[in-house]
Amino acid sequence: MRHTARASSLDTVTGSRYDRVLLVFSDIEMGSGGDIDDFPHTPFLGELLSSYLDGPLSEKPIDFVFNGDTFDLLKTPYGGTYPHHITSDVALAKVASISGRHPKFFEAIRDIVNHPSGNKSVHFIVGNHDVELLFPEVQDFLKVLGGGNDRILFHGFEMSLGKIHIEHGSQLDPLFHIDPDKAFVQVGGKRMLNISWAMVALLDVYMPLHPILYLYDRLCPKELLLQLLPEVKDLLLAKGWRYWSKDFWRELLFIKDPLLKFNWTVLKETMKRFTTSNPNVYLNKKRLKKILDSKPAELFIIGHLHEQGSYYHGKKRLLQSGCIRDEYFISDDGKTFTPKLKSFYEVFLKDQHVVGITGRELQGPARPPESFPDSIFDMVPKVKELLGEFEDLKRMEKQQEKQEKKEQAQGKDGNLVPELVEPADTGPDEPENNSSG
Ligand SMILES: [Fe+2]
Repeated sequence: MRHTARASSLDTVTGSRYDRVLLVFSDIEMGSGGDIDDFPHTPFLGELLSSYLDGPLSEKPIDFVFNGDTFDLLKTPYGGTYPHHITSDVALAKVASISGRHPKFFEAIRDIVNHPSGNKSVHFIVGNHDVELLFPEVQDFLKVLGGGNDRILFHGFEMSLGKIHIEHGSQLDPLFHIDPDKAFVQVGGKRMLNISWAMVALLDVYMPLHPILYLYDRLCPKELLLQLLPEVKDLLLAKGWRYWSKDFWRELLFIKDPLLKFNWTVLKETMKRFTTSNPNVYLNKKRLKKILDSKPAELFIIGHLHEQGSYYHGKKRLLQSGCIRDEYFISDDGKTFTPKLKSFYEVFLKDQHVVGITGRELQGPARPPESFPDSIFDMVPKVKELLGEFEDLKRMEKQQEKQEKKEQAQGKDGNLVPELVEPADTGPDEPENNSSG
């Protein structure tokens, strides 16, 4: 069945007084298949993308922008593990594992770039779940899957289109920021991604638990989840502490791994952000303001926060494009899951100026019933079993507190300690509203 909402959204803008269309999708997070894949619906997405290729838009230039976390490479295993040493070979194997599960996405990409009008392009921006897109080898591989067409473009961490600036948003997030000039590092004579300390922590500690905990990361509100599942928090902190107090030091001292940059405090912060705290992700407000003030753009579009929003900073406009992956609101003590709508933006341009913006929100397809648990408690017996490995949790907690105080006293002088930045508001100014403009 075709998506018909496109025609009605066009009616609400400026009729034919636009000469270019920009479509911005973020946080699709398609994975390597199975229950743990956060977006197993690429036939739906492919159909949505293809719906822009006929009808009133078919002759207009259209830029399809995938604004980061298009592929969930962070949660894609390699050889059954989650290595934080990501070479081009590791990256290619993970990308192949995802692309094999989502052929309809690449079919749609081929249809876009080979459209008879010849004026439609596909753009990929790097997010914190798909930093692997920085590898030229990965870009070449994806280009081949997309039909080997030069209309598939890779922009690194950000792109500009006329007076529009687009970036995923993870570069504004202190946990995930990567220095673009030092995105690669040599370890043991091999070139690999110089990923952030939070990503190393996630790959080392959280991802091995993902086959058990995958559902929780899709649910909100996180406060309710935390109240209902205190065992999950205990397990992550215990796993994190064991890692930091034992394995981390072995790797740091004996293997001399330059990617190990965090301390216990930041490791704990990372665990909290991904399981029990609110919000999951945030932006550094000062860094965001600096970008809004310094760039000549009129419109800024980010993703990463998984919520659609529209804000003003003076006369500059900031859009948060929301997310496409599966997410749910829980209620009824964790027994009822209500799907969140999937959101993205359409931007209409005339002579490079924005003349219309439409925020789109769509209900996605349901997941197969057998791939979804009856309640959030289905995994609790397994979590408790894993927690049983940690006999003395109270003593562990005391050790953790002691370590946090020690690190606090060391402050910036702690030689391993990246500076933790306080959470900031997500918008540059008070949000004027939380709907599309
Ligand atoms: Fe992200």
